Amino acid sequence: MSKKLTFLILSGPTKEYIDPVRFISNNSSGKMGNALAEAALIKGCNVIFISGPANTFPSNVKLMEITTALEMFKAVKLNFKKSDIIISAAAVSDYRPVKIYKHKIKKSSKKILIEFTQNPDIIKYCGKNKKNQIVTGFALETKNLINNAKMKLKNKNLDLITANANESIGSDNTTAYIINTDGSVIEIKNKDKKIVAEKIINETIRLFNNIKADKKVS
Ligand code: C5P
Repeated sequence: MSKKLTFLILSGPTKEYIDPVRFISNNSSGKMGNALAEAALIKGCNVIFISGPANTFPSNVKLMEITTALEMFKAVKLNFKKSDIIISAAAVSDYRPVKIYKHKIKKSSKKILIEFTQNPDIIKYCGKNKKNQIVTGFALETKNLINNAKMKLKNKNLDLITANANESIGSDNTTAYIINTDGSVIEIKNKDKKIVAEKIINETIRLFNNIKADKKVS
């Protein structure tokens, strides 16, 4: 009997605090991440689920709730080696404020400047450090969707990427393009995120089994 696969799924938004009450974030609902977890569970796999703030979380997963990108990165590094397939559906904030004010910033007549610094690219770290693992992510673009997604697939050393347009944020349905490293594209038009999730889970399991088969041959 083959070993139960472990998925590491990153989901939801991150929140980067400026002061104790203000933050930068985005509208990610975590719906895609939840659908991926459920599809992986249906396949009989283990799921480690690292999520930013969201209204609902999947059951029967190892859940780790985080707030910031740095916290997500720390949780990923703790769980990376024990995971076979890593999927990031998280809308990780690319930037965080350099300084978090200890107290609420007071209104004044002067302009304020807030300096931001880059957050680590979590899925890129996974792509760079993978060992017999499948690493995949999403690309949400407002223009040149497929080309930008293909560039991310290459730059982050991913095994698969799913491109979708901005309209999919927060919605139950999405039009998705699942892109392989050979350039082939599977288009799924305006379908429930559950259907997209099932396809991604099947594709990643197929790719993972290919690595195992390649190793047996060599
Ligand atoms: O933000 P970007 O378009 O580069 O996101 C593409 C993929 O990279 C997504 O899967 C996202 O979850 C992941 N990502 C990440 N860490 C970041 C930014 C994005 O893991 N700091």
